[in-house]
Amino acid sequence: MGKDVIIACDFESAEKTFEFLDRFTDEKPFVKIGMELFYAAGPSIVREIKKRGHKIFLDLKLHDIPNTVKKSMAVLSKLDVDMTNLHAAGTIDMMKAALEGLTREDGTRPILIAVTQLTSTSEERMQNELLINASINDTIVKYAENTKAAGLDGVVCSPLEAGMVKTACGKEFITVTPGVRFADGDVGDQVRITTPQKAKEIGSDYIVVGRPITQAADPVAAYRRCVNEFVD
Ligand code: C5P
Repeated sequence: MGKDVIIACDFESAEKTFEFLDRFTDEKPFVKIGMELFYAAGPSIVREIKKRGHKIFLDLKLHDIPNTVKKSMAVLSKLDVDMTNLHAAGTIDMMKAALEGLTREDGTRPILIAVTQLTSTSEERMQNELLINASINDTIVKYAENTKAAGLDGVVCSPLEAGMVKTACGKEFITVTPGVRFADGDVGDQVRITTPQKAKEIGSDYIVVGRPITQAADPVAAYRRCVNEFVD
């Protein structure tokens, strides 16, 4: 499996997204479409970006009863995305149902990964509001193990957690890691961050990079810098 840089296309409209993607004339980056853009522009944005030759990670983080998730995954599978996701908190049964729904008649399917704990959830809130009496690292490892037991391909986690996930679930188990910043760049609202170079050393398979590329004065140069540090 090849390492790759995924650009988080967190734009509010199809127009702004295409304006951004039009800057890339020599390469076709792997792009992440999240809830904001999907809810604003609908499934047609996925088809259009796919038609332009990009790989797509559809980041909709499904979490519902197994039957609903299975049927929704079957719909997403028809969009021909390359990667999609759900919340591991939905249980192993929900994840197995998702995998079934996602698998096409010919046996192929997009990569399916699970969100363990959102990086915005602190250990304190998890314990006091959600009444989960464990350390956040223990829940991340347990959710990753559940994800593997359900037959999925990997998890989304902080790059700083990728090492412990690999230790628990094996090096073939995919880690997709947002929270990446250049050593000399703005941190913004991200807390548990690291550089593309360090994410590579820790063992991330895919880094998800948004603002350091989308808000850069020269987004193509910023993308190439990520690829140079992480992949090459
Ligand atoms: O702009 P930035 O590089 O912070 O973008 C990171 C992307 O990864 C955003 O789309 C954000 O929603 C997503 N993400 C994250 N942390 C998670 C899961 C997803 O930052 N735990």
